[in-house]
Amino acid sequence: MALDKAETIICHDLNDVVEKAATSFADTATEFIRKKSLFNVVLSGGSTPQPLYQLLSSDRFRNQIDWTRVQLFWGDERCVPPTDRASNYGMATKSLISKIKIPFKNIHRIKGEMGEDSACFYEKELRSFFSLGKDAFPKFDLIILGIGEDGHTASIFPGSPVVNETSDMVAADYVDKLSSTRITLTPPTINNASNIMVLACGNNKADAIKEIFEGDSKPDIIPSQFLRKAKGKVSFFLDEPAASKLASLKA
Ligand code: 6PG
Repeated sequence: MALDKAETIICHDLNDVVEKAATSFADTATEFIRKKSLFNVVLSGGSTPQPLYQLLSSDRFRNQIDWTRVQLFWGDERCVPPTDRASNYGMATKSLISKIKIPFKNIHRIKGEMGEDSACFYEKELRSFFSLGKDAFPKFDLIILGIGEDGHTASIFPGSPVVNETSDMVAADYVDKLSSTRITLTPPTINNASNIMVLACGNNKADAIKEIFEGDSKPDIIPSQFLRKAKGKVSFFLDEPAASKLASLKA
């Protein structure tokens, strides 16, 4: 789906983004569980997705979803133990997993503590879970993404060779600006999802959002532009400041 067909939901503020994203998550989960008794979802790190997880764990949403049918995966992870404050798995555990009845076997964390090796281990886990042959990519039902003000998403940062990856499902990449290695799903894996939900709030994301939708193609500089090749439905949940530089909304 080229992004001119993406669904763009403009919200008043972060709370509105989170409310609308939680409703969309619950509706999508219900749809997939009804159709195939299973919902494979990829979580993101970041301060924008975190309140979404907290809302999903609340009384208002928790019981709308049969968590025993949900399989949780991650779009990226830091190379730290699961108990580290930087761990995306740790953040999701505090915000969501510790408050819902989801079987431990349904949780497929990236074992960041293994460092670069966790990329090939995670790829093996995905290949086994989805019973994938060579050259095939997993088709997640929903992938949740945040956007960095530098235009990164997952852990695909400006200048990273991962943005041009075409065969690996998962990659390990040293991020100079962070002086650390990150583990991330690659563009072909992300773009193969049935649904992608992108959350972005704040004036500091407006330039990146404009470049993603309207900028000349320069994925080495704005990695999130790879989403222009997404095969499924892409929904952007943006607050007004993050969407403020989109010409398409000024018409
Ligand atoms: C991470 C995330 C990353 C995040 C963006 C947006 O591991 O940090 O996967 O891609 O979603 O950086 O983060 P904010 O929502 O905090 O701006």
